[in-house]
Amino acid sequence: MIHSKIRDYELTITPDFSPMMNLLSDEKAFFVIDQNVYRLYPQLFSRVDNDRLFLLDATESEKTIETALEICEKMIQLHAKRNARLISFGGGITQDVTGFAANVLYRGIHWTFVPTTLLAACDSCIGGKTSLNYKGYKNLLGTFFPPEQIFVCSKFFHTLSEADFQSGLGEVVKFNFLMGEEGVKNIEANIDAMIQRDTETTNRFVESSLLYKKNYIEADEFDNGVRVYLNFAHTFGHAIETVSKYEIPHGTAVAMGMIAANRVSVSRGIMSEQFALRMENTLYKIIPASALRVSLKPEQLLGAIKNDKKQINDGVTAVLMDETSQLSLVHDVQTQEIFEAYSYITKAR
Ligand SMILES: NC(=O)c1ccc[n+]([C@@H]2O[C@H](COP(=O)([O-])OP(=O)(O)OC[C@H]3O[C@@H](n4cnc5c(N)ncnc54)[C@H](O)[C@@H]3O)[C@@H](O)[C@H]2O)c1
Ligand SMILES: [Zn+2]
Repeated sequence: MIHSKIRDYELTITPDFSPMMNLLSDEKAFFVIDQNVYRLYPQLFSRVDNDRLFLLDATESEKTIETALEICEKMIQLHAKRNARLISFGGGITQDVTGFAANVLYRGIHWTFVPTTLLAACDSCIGGKTSLNYKGYKNLLGTFFPPEQIFVCSKFFHTLSEADFQSGLGEVVKFNFLMGEEGVKNIEANIDAMIQRDTETTNRFVESSLLYKKNYIEADEFDNGVRVYLNFAHTFGHAIETVSKYEIPHGTAVAMGMIAANRVSVSRGIMSEQFALRMENTLYKIIPASALRVSLKPEQLLGAIKNDKKQINDGVTAVLMDETSQLSLVHDVQTQEIFEAYSYITKAR
């Protein structure tokens, strides 16, 4: 159970698809399913009636208010009432679009979400954020609206591409680094099994990531305080995502962002080279070679960081980690520090 000022909600980790079968036999519900997931699991979705189904093209260019409104319109045509239920299956893109639609239709309808990517399962499915891209800017529009029920099943991860699975691992690794020495050791010992997609190990880490995040979102649901620490590496990561035009997915950009953020910590003398290299060793295992081949110019990355909507000061705001994994929010990261951090990761190719 996750406590929320909007409504408490329930997350269930399930070893198989049986709870999904129940959801899918709800004859009154409206379904939004990532079209790739729909195609990959034909048996699972065979009983969903086409009239009550919206297949979503899960791309950043479709993560827009127009798509959310199309979903609302389709539900209105079906005479959906305030007690209607929307059930969505997919990753973070599906979550963002359907969460927004479920929030604005009649000021909020019932919504159940089944994350099908590792990233959505270990991270985004809780916390209640819905974000849409607008006029080319990422996540510019958004609300807070958690699903009422979430069902996590790692069976979905078997069909994820290597790139999408590794992207999810980026957030799993981040949560463990935030836990301090214990977390760093734990991830070092288990990262190889997770890369091999060992079910038991992956399930364990999905659960511990969610439990870790739960503390922060319950303490600071609307992101005005401690929740900012979960944004460790995201200042650097978002710029990487943007400059790569989303060729580098979110979690992989965060993994690269951790290397960059730690470089700033090393140059400020708050983290030893040795500790940074130790974390890098793990991170380079989950950053695909294809991501390292994407052309990223430090000048462009710097420009993207300065354009980020979250940057409100002259100095750049970022969360930095120290030698004991303590985090601090600083507002004075200098151009030169960012340039050097990015030069370091782009030279690693
Ligand atoms: N709302 C939040 O709190 C929050 C947090 C983090 C990220 N996000 C957003 O989430 C998005 C990224 O989400 P994501 O990484 O979960 O993936 P995604 O939704 O972008 O999907 C990635 C790809 O995987 C495919 N896919 C999904 N499930 C699959 C499966 N089981 N098997 C095979 N293919 C599958 C999709 O069709 C898509 O091609 C970004 O837009 C990001 O901004 C939101
Ligand atoms: Zn993230």
